[in-house]
Amino acid sequence: MTLSYDAVADKLASLAKRRGFVFPSSEIYGGAGATWDYGPLGVELKNNVKRAWWRAMVQLRDDIVGLDAAILMHPRVWEASGHVQNFIDPLVECGNCHRRFRLDDLRDGEELIDQWRGGKVDLSDVPCPVCGMRKLADPRRFNLMFKTFVGPVEEEASVAWLRPETAQGIFVNFENVQQSTRRKLPFGIAQVGKSFRNEITPGNLIFRSREFEQMEMQYFCRPEDAPLVFESWLGTRRDWYREYGIRDDLLRFREHAENERAHYAAKAIDIEFRFPFGWKEMEGIHNRTDYDLRRHSEYSGKDLRYFDEAANERFLPYVVETAVGADRAAYALLCAAYDEEPDKEGVRVVLRLHRDLAPYKVAVLPLSKNEKLTPLAREVAVMLRPHLLITYDETQAIGRRYRRQDEIGTPLCVTIDFDSLEDRQVTIRDRDSMAQVRVAIADLVPALRERLGV
Ligand code: GAP
Repeated sequence: MTLSYDAVADKLASLAKRRGFVFPSSEIYGGAGATWDYGPLGVELKNNVKRAWWRAMVQLRDDIVGLDAAILMHPRVWEASGHVQNFIDPLVECGNCHRRFRLDDLRDGEELIDQWRGGKVDLSDVPCPVCGMRKLADPRRFNLMFKTFVGPVEEEASVAWLRPETAQGIFVNFENVQQSTRRKLPFGIAQVGKSFRNEITPGNLIFRSREFEQMEMQYFCRPEDAPLVFESWLGTRRDWYREYGIRDDLLRFREHAENERAHYAAKAIDIEFRFPFGWKEMEGIHNRTDYDLRRHSEYSGKDLRYFDEAANERFLPYVVETAVGADRAAYALLCAAYDEEPDKEGVRVVLRLHRDLAPYKVAVLPLSKNEKLTPLAREVAVMLRPHLLITYDETQAIGRRYRRQDEIGTPLCVTIDFDSLEDRQVTIRDRDSMAQVRVAIADLVPALRERLGV
């Protein structure tokens, strides 16, 4: 890479918009405040990330099953889970410019957060990050959940919350899943779905937004097994990122201090990724103990204890969860994949995405837009389409089209030239090495499959 890693965020922001990965939501109205729409390439990328996670976490394991729970849940769920009471950020308003901030966005934010958690924080000497005046009000508790109403009447009795984590759908279905699948401990339940948080300071493209997707897995085990289960998930999840192209120097583990942990966690370790704007949480691994099942038992009146036949005992399982944002993971994977290298036309931008994550697997390119080449190129495209996600492009010079595919991470290009008309062979070009090899059209599908590992 010839460019500095710090510059990658700006490069990706421009690439994301220009090439159709991500657009600001409702852009023609000026945007909808930290919500994003995924364009034709972005939706493929994010689906591939979710698919890769689901495959590793559900389909390749015999101890984890899937679930897709509703976003709107009974309001008591969020009282039981502790979110109504505790899902709070400290919000600070400037008395001069009236901008609002999270406490940790201020100078020495981490220290201020520690003071706030200790019960007393002094902001008299802290400047506003925007206007510089020392007129910040004391922090107030701001609940991050979005409130709405179910049915036609907007009253307290019809309040509903947009879920801020997918996990609660899993906890309230623990007994349904356990009994319908006749699972014995230990086993996990996994889910991918939308979550919503009214973030005070969203930002950095899709890193922190108000509507996002989570990929969460809750692993239920005997209480005494939770520490070992926790350790093993650290390695399993780090290996998953490695497999999909995140180098070790871009990943680290960071354990939460006691006063930093979420209200449900007895132990929490973040898998942090080195984003171009600093080390940030990508995934959280938490030992949630029996907190959630216990609270739901209390609030619903339903005994959620598990019966262990062998031991002839009834108890509430402990839960180790792995929780990652699909958007945040997709962004990290883009950062890790972004590369630039000098070439004879200046700079070649390459997204070195893992082939399973790349939006398109193959680009079909006639050497030039020519009436003799087009029919054969289209024939090749039609032949490939049922097998692989392809794109077809015949505008501009072939070098420019290779660059366009490199920039969006397409692993392979197939070029149809004038010799192809005679010998029915085409050229396969590899994105990373730029090596080219001639293959008979009759052998093209297996040749591409082999290179793509599918
Ligand atoms: N169930 C546990 C839980 O939700 P979390 O650490 O609050 O834990 C898990 O969130 C993951 O969800 C984070 O590591 C991050 O990847 C993603 N996430 C959280 N808030 C987000 C936001 N506002 N925008 C995008 N992703 C977010």
